[in-house]
Amino acid sequence: MPVIRDQSIEVLYSAEKIAERNEEIALSVAKASYRDLLVVAILKGSFIFAADLIRAMHQVGLSPEMEFISVSSYGAGTQSSELKLLRNIETDVTGRDVLLIDDILESGKTLAFTRDLLLSRGANAVLLAVLLDKPFRRQIDIKADHVGFECPDVFVVGYGMDKAHAFRELPFVGKITGND
Ligand code: IMP
Ligand code: MG
Repeated sequence: MPVIRDQSIEVLYSAEKIAERNEEIALSVAKASYRDLLVVAILKGSFIFAADLIRAMHQVGLSPEMEFISVSSYGAGTQSSELKLLRNIETDVTGRDVLLIDDILESGKTLAFTRDLLLSRGANAVLLAVLLDKPFRRQIDIKADHVGFECPDVFVVGYGMDKAHAFRELPFVGKITGND
């Protein structure tokens, strides 16, 4: 088991498995025939997934534009329900098909807030792609159009996802199992 920062990390999704899945997601995006596709990655957690996915999309002949948005929950604790926009996109989304990318779909609040924002700005359609889905955690009725893996109810790190800003650099997704 890899040991990072004195913590044992159990690998749940290896770099190889993720790369394979990214190719499959890219194919499903290509099949969906979106028009004038704009990819919007939600920072920070999705930055590695989005970087790999757009390159997989290139491999299957797609030429999307790419943008970044940042939203954050605020209020007390981790269960806070309000979201605010921290960093806006610079592109006019009017009439465009947008593929919104996040690392994890959990309660659904982040993706619902961001999708509704882009729709209110006149996007033609906002499709959702997530690396991990935790459906049993949902608080809002929302489904992703493209999902990497259905993830068990555990806190994961790596492949862009963090615990207190650490572990984003790991090439795999793993679960911290404790001190080594
Ligand atoms: P929600 O769908 O709005 O509840 O939030 C999903 C967001 O919570 C993701 O974009 C992640 O940033 C964060 N998140 C949820 N579960 C995990 C986890 O297991 N590890 C790291 N971040 C997580
Ligand atoms: Mg996030």
